[in-house]
Amino acid sequence: MKIARFSRVGFILAAAGSAVGLGNIWKFPYITGEYGGGAFVIIYLATVLLIGFSIMIAEMLIGYLGRKDGVSSFEDLAPKNKHLWKFAGFQGLAGLFIMIFYSVVIGWIFNYIVTSIYYLPSSVEEAETTFSTLLHSSVWTQLFYHTLAFIWITYVLTKGIKGGIEKMNFVLMPTLMIILLGMFFYATSLDAFPKAVEFMFFPDFSKIDSDAFVVAVGHAFFTLSLGMGAIMTYSASMEKNSNLVKNAFWVVLLDTSIAIVAGLMLFTFLYQYGSGPAKGPGLVFISLPAAFFEMGIVGNIFAVLFFIALAFAGLTSSVSLVEPMVQYFIDRYSWSRLRASISMGLFFYLVGIIALLSNIDGFKDILTWGDKSFFDWVDYVTAAIMLPLGGLAMAIFIGFVVEKQRVEAILKPQLGFAFEAWYFSLRYITPVAMFIVMLSLIGVL
Ligand code: PFF
Repeated sequence: MKIARFSRVGFILAAAGSAVGLGNIWKFPYITGEYGGGAFVIIYLATVLLIGFSIMIAEMLIGYLGRKDGVSSFEDLAPKNKHLWKFAGFQGLAGLFIMIFYSVVIGWIFNYIVTSIYYLPSSVEEAETTFSTLLHSSVWTQLFYHTLAFIWITYVLTKGIKGGIEKMNFVLMPTLMIILLGMFFYATSLDAFPKAVEFMFFPDFSKIDSDAFVVAVGHAFFTLSLGMGAIMTYSASMEKNSNLVKNAFWVVLLDTSIAIVAGLMLFTFLYQYGSGPAKGPGLVFISLPAAFFEMGIVGNIFAVLFFIALAFAGLTSSVSLVEPMVQYFIDRYSWSRLRASISMGLFFYLVGIIALLSNIDGFKDILTWGDKSFFDWVDYVTAAIMLPLGGLAMAIFIGFVVEKQRVEAILKPQLGFAFEAWYFSLRYITPVAMFIVMLSLIGVL
């Protein structure tokens, strides 16, 4: 039985800590760059509001009602076919799989915090070489920082909900917000700021195709930490009589504002000192350091602070990616927290080493199947299959399986007249959207 519960603010910070991650500060700006700016941002915002927010409430509800690990919660709440529904709870596995590459990326960020103190690349070409050397040749450096990430994350998990996860979020989340806001305000004083605003908010719908829709829906899910049992597992430790709708609202608001603030700030720097909005995953590791170089010593300070904020965002998300499976072994197999945390930690750490090696020259060939390295496969399978499946399962479960009275009893007082609209969207809009996303990500559509 659970004893430790989040405080009210602790829950919001931890859930927002889960949501605000590499997705917000690393991925959101580069996919915005890739899909042409404003029009993509509008689709993304609409998806977050229409689909993300309603699934977030549903996921919180499952955890809040179930009060246990995801598998047990699904099993307990299903009125019949319990043995089948419990498999929906294994969406927590997706989080553990994501950690396989997430931890490697956090390792790169640690490395950039250290190197930015004394070195920034003087051109985009040089930055490209630096990043590519790290990725394709520097086994030991990557291994060292991947190990650090593993130790940090596992240590926090061994300390539990209150003494580990809540405590870390209480320190890291406000620090991250202060750093980002500070840099954002600096960016507003630069000449290029209006250009960044225009790029992010002026829609040019000619750049939008069906791909952009799919990417926007997929990203809305990823950035809000939905479909992987993270929010569900945290919600099992929510205080009694919590207002789920308010909590979900805060998490969505914090997550979205941080993505927008980070995007505006990064694009301003890239317009002012760099080559304009960069596309692709190299945005923060390649174009940005080269832009910081142009700022002189201030650039070094900004770079270090920026990568610290990015690392914090990644670490608070990481614990939430592993916690569902930790909780599973604690609740279902009576493992101690120490044993569960270390076992799950070792899993992502060791498999993460394979992912890391799959980018390294010399190992790449044996660790590449089809057009993707092992690293890319893990990213693809989690994002294209596991995540939409998790979302689909939750929408159907709350929309059709759990008795409506039970859902109403909790959510009607909180949602008021919007309850029916929410229920409708959960039953009909979300599952269809999830299905389309999945089919198109796996290439059927
Ligand atoms: N929301 C995180 C991000 O934007 O980076 C990633 C994530 C964390 C996804 C936890 C899913 C999850 F369960």
